[in-house]
Amino acid sequence: MATERTLSILKPDATRRNLTGKINAVFEEAGLRIIAQRRLHLSQAQAEAFYAAHRERGFFKDLVGFMVSGPVVVQVLEGEDAIALNRKLMGATNPANADPGTIRKLFAESIEANSVHGSDSAEAAAQEIGFFFAGTDIVG
Ligand code: CMP
Repeated sequence: MATERTLSILKPDATRRNLTGKINAVFEEAGLRIIAQRRLHLSQAQAEAFYAAHRERGFFKDLVGFMVSGPVVVQVLEGEDAIALNRKLMGATNPANADPGTIRKLFAESIEANSVHGSDSAEAAAQEIGFFFAGTDIVG
């Protein structure tokens, strides 16, 4: 295992319900360190660019609409095997299929309002971290 960094987003359904601290506690208790964090309200253009890989999917318009519906918290998480560990902590995309104890089982409202996003590969993590953070914003 190697120390990795991954991009995490706490989505508008999580910020609306004031869950930032509770979700961050799940990360920290699992050994992930939050080495950069910022709260922002995504623009339409930012949300469309961030999710460009899903542009052709039927849910793209609704996904973008949801992601601009309220503030998000973008974060860099660091730790051993951080990309896979974060995905395990998040649980399945659809909370109905998420394992007990995962963030999405605990907190998500639906497949769209599913509380968190996490990078799904090393390549995605590097690209997604660079989308939101300059090197000087990240303090490991
Ligand atoms: P996320 O990990 O942020 O990546 C893309 C998002 O699209 C996903 O989480 C879901 O919240 C959202 N989404 C909405 N509808 C669907 C769907 N039918 N299948 C997969 N993802 C969906």
